[in-house]
Amino acid sequence: MTETFVAKPGSLSDGERMVVAVGEREIGVFRHKGKLYAYSNTCLHSGGPACEGLIIARVEERILPDKTSAGLFFSDDDMHFVCPWHGYEYDIKTGECAGDRKLKLRSYPIIEKSNGIFVVT
Ligand code: FES
Repeated sequence: MTETFVAKPGSLSDGERMVVAVGEREIGVFRHKGKLYAYSNTCLHSGGPACEGLIIARVEERILPDKTSAGLFFSDDDMHFVCPWHGYEYDIKTGECAGDRKLKLRSYPIIEKSNGIFVVT
């Protein structure tokens, strides 16, 4: 296991992301609600830069007790990032593809220490 420095401590603000090269790999690092997440930047669809597109709240339909729709809303809790090539959406907390939860980007442990943020490969 190798720890690779990716950023100075506190340099990645909430809601931000960066993509770093670690050897032959590209890894997307996200901070969401104070937690860090790291995923392969290779999209499961056709190899696009999965971590480099739009970061947007999950769209959800709220169903009323009478089973009618109250409309579409942006989730208060769940964020997705969207591959810029063809729009595959990934859950920022799990790396799962929103359209097929069996598909999941490779994740990497990420550690924040007093001297920096490190990804473990
Ligand atoms: S390569 Fe990512 S959606 Fe097609």
